[in-house]
Amino acid sequence: MADEIPWERLFEEALRVRQRAHVPYSRFPVGAAVLYADGSIVAGCNVENATYGLTVCAERNAFAAGVAQGREKPVAVAVVVDTPEPCPPCGMCRQVMAEFAGPDLPVRSRTLSGQEARYPLSELLPHAFTRSFL
Ligand code: THU
Repeated sequence: MADEIPWERLFEEALRVRQRAHVPYSRFPVGAAVLYADGSIVAGCNVENATYGLTVCAERNAFAAGVAQGREKPVAVAVVVDTPEPCPPCGMCRQVMAEFAGPDLPVRSRTLSGQEARYPLSELLPHAFTRSFL
């Protein structure tokens, strides 16, 4: 399955949407793109607020947009940041990913210079709390 994922397309989308990030406070734009089982891609950027705590990360915005568009079964996530080392998703975003995908979800993060990190969701969020406990 991993080989069938169009990673370059996903990263292109993440890079494109990153340009729309609303980051007047951190100046740290992030782009994320989620591939769904039906082949569709939904992208999201981070959106900050003057009340800083209201900031929503790129990854969570991408997943929320996917819900709004009726997308089901995320199968891959690409993230783009401008950092020296690839930047993994924050803890809150990991939990949101675990709401919609299983532990094998492949997540890749790239820097603008092309350095890449790859992690299965299970590595980012071991012992995830899921609906199975409810
Ligand atoms: N941010 C993301 O969009 N994704 C992450 O996984 C880490 C952090 C955003 C939130 C905020 O707008 C900026 O990066 C700095 O924390």
